Amino acid sequence: MSNLPSGNRDSFSSKFGVIAAAAGSAVGLGNIWKFPYIAGVYGGAAFLFVYLAFILAIGLPVMLSELIIGRSSRKNAFGAFKVLAPGTPWRYIGILGVGAAFLILSFYGVVAGWSIEYIVLSLKNGFSAKSPDEIGLLFTTLIESPVKPVIFQLIFMVLSAGIVIVGIQKGIEKYTKILMPLLVIILVFLCVKSVSLEGAKAGLNFLFKPDFSKLTADGILSALGHAFFTLSLGMGTLITYGSYIQKDNNLVNTVINVTVADTVIALMAGIAIFPAVFAFGIEPSQGPGLIFVTLPNVFHQMPGGYVFSILFFVLLSVAALTSSISILEVVVAYFKEEFNMGRKASTILATVLISILGVLCSLSMGVLSPYTFMGLNIFDLMDWISANLFLPVGGMFIALFVGWYLGRKKVKEEVAQGGTLSGALLSIFMFLVKFIAPIAIAIVMLNNFGLLKF
Ligand code: PHE
Ligand code: NA
Repeated sequence: MSNLPSGNRDSFSSKFGVIAAAAGSAVGLGNIWKFPYIAGVYGGAAFLFVYLAFILAIGLPVMLSELIIGRSSRKNAFGAFKVLAPGTPWRYIGILGVGAAFLILSFYGVVAGWSIEYIVLSLKNGFSAKSPDEIGLLFTTLIESPVKPVIFQLIFMVLSAGIVIVGIQKGIEKYTKILMPLLVIILVFLCVKSVSLEGAKAGLNFLFKPDFSKLTADGILSALGHAFFTLSLGMGTLITYGSYIQKDNNLVNTVINVTVADTVIALMAGIAIFPAVFAFGIEPSQGPGLIFVTLPNVFHQMPGGYVFSILFFVLLSVAALTSSISILEVVVAYFKEEFNMGRKASTILATVLISILGVLCSLSMGVLSPYTFMGLNIFDLMDWISANLFLPVGGMFIALFVGWYLGRKKVKEEVAQGGTLSGALLSIFMFLVKFIAPIAIAIVMLNNFGLLKF
């Protein structure tokens, strides 16, 4: 399958495969579930603009950094640093990433499980003839149950493991090619419907008219954390995927395509959700349930809503799957290469361990809800620690590593294989990874922990 120097490693077979896999990783629950929910919590437009600024100034350069590290080392997130910086502590960035993958997939699987449960509900026409309040109640009852969500979560984990065992590149290329465009089409329909609802204007204002006085230190850190989360950065996903990319691939193009696709889809999700939120009198800051209590109301009112709602939750589950496999792959590649385990054994071990933590996340919505830390239940805690702590810290060190350790010459060499980065762009990139990204991340984090006050 591959004709790479290292011989026995997998690789993506086509240029499209690379973009499809990286976009498949990026586009997921982060765009459609998490972005609207946290934008709602942190006040809408002001949050959106800060998030977009972080995508540009930090997300883009860190994504290119990860691909450079991955492709030049041809190793997993931990092994990559051992190859590129032997005998140095840089490798611990990789460990942080493997840890982040654990935490993220534990709660990600829960939400994906809800999405699968909503496919079933849609098939049964379970939302029809229900008021917005009843739909809200339906969601709460569903996630608090100790059995069903756990079963759907485990089904999702088994599906993810199945694809990872077969090998990423065989699994994804085919599916992303057809299903991602379909997801975009459904989103277009949803946007049109949502925007034409009575009272939609308030939702568009909420999403696009910033009131920067609403911004809090928490909101800024969440925007930063989400920039990493949504682009699959900071934990070595794109180091791992980068290691499967062939030398003739244009890394800069890949980065731009993936970032644009991810951002557009998040914006579309916002346009589909917020007008409806306001039209139906739903609370925008209600949290993780936002899309699940909003969208069924929209489907209700659409001609063909029955079919749309089934399709939407199927595609959402698939989008979640192409992301979850990229998270799982970080852990699997690490077990495989660092402990000399087989692909199958590594996948099973990783899936079992993550699922145990995942079940606790699911139960923390119901029976385990009394157990909290800093006011967060287990689910929110895993989300908060991974997105707002592990990913930004990981991203900061990845930027520093490429900026200061690898350096301009090595970056230029790696990027020049299959692409170009003109002198000026290269200088901008180096400036961003050496200074802007690390300093901005440090300031946002220190500010959030009250160690630095503005
Ligand atoms: N980017 C994915 C999403 O938006 C989630 C993800 C995070 C995937 C971290 C890989 C690594 O849903
Ligand atoms: Na995303």
